Amino acid sequence: MSGINPLICLLEQGIHRNFWKKCFHFLILKFKLTNMIYRNRKKATIIASLAAIVVISLAAHTPEKQQGPRNLQVLSKNISHDSLDAIMDEFKAALGVKCNFCHAQSATNPGHLDFASDDKMEKGAARHMMKMTTEINTKFFNWNGSNAPDTIRAVTCITCHRGSEHPEASALTFEHKGPPPPPPAKN
Ligand code: HEC
Ligand code: HEC
Repeated sequence: MSGINPLICLLEQGIHRNFWKKCFHFLILKFKLTNMIYRNRKKATIIASLAAIVVISLAAHTPEKQQGPRNLQVLSKNISHDSLDAIMDEFKAALGVKCNFCHAQSATNPGHLDFASDDKMEKGAARHMMKMTTEINTKFFNWNGSNAPDTIRAVTCITCHRGSEHPEASALTFEHKGPPPPPPAKN
């Protein structure tokens, strides 16, 4: 109520017989106005807060933002977003493919992949390969009994695939590259 000053009353009302009465009415009016503004401001704050809540909850319900992986059968269900990303990038590079080699198109969202779907058999093949790779590492490389056998990475996808989706011909057969080197000379 700092703006209310008897001097303003004096200036606005002029010297009058009913000066004090008018000044009193003026003060009441000002008080009511200030109160109205204050109430409306309260209302505006409430409306803004409600709007903010609606916006926030809408954002939270956008599937990609809120939901983590829904269909992990080999990897840990609590895997971080960054670790999952890193593994998927590794698969992509090791096999020389894109995400859509293993992941099916979304039925509801054209042009997007449905990462949780198991419609592509390559995803199943990859799960099989993941288990095989882990077993080679933990069973056959872990001869000295590590405390964390799941972190041994002696063999990874790239060991066999070397940038090829189907490695048997390119990486697993012996390629003839001319005659073998001559045996060392005997002295
Ligand atoms: C070689 C096959 C392969 C490639 C290539 C691949 N993925 Fe995957 N992806 C998988 C498999 C297998 C799983 C399921 C793992 C499991 O069951 O633990 C998976 C799971 C996922 C999931 C979790 C889905 C869910 O909700 O359960 C996401 C997200 C994902 N991949 C993203 C990607 C992205 C992005 C790319 C490309 C950068 C990619 N993937 C490339 C095989 C692949
Ligand atoms: C020990 C060697 C080896 C390792 C390690 C390996 N793969 Fe394979 N992978 C193969 C061979 C060989 C084939 C072809 C097998 C067949 O046709 O039966 C294959 C096939 C696949 C296929 C099917 C490809 C197609 O054309 O249908 C996928 C997908 C795959 N591997 C993903 C992976 C992933 C992901 C990893 C790592 C987690 C991995 N592989 C590790 C040897 C390996």
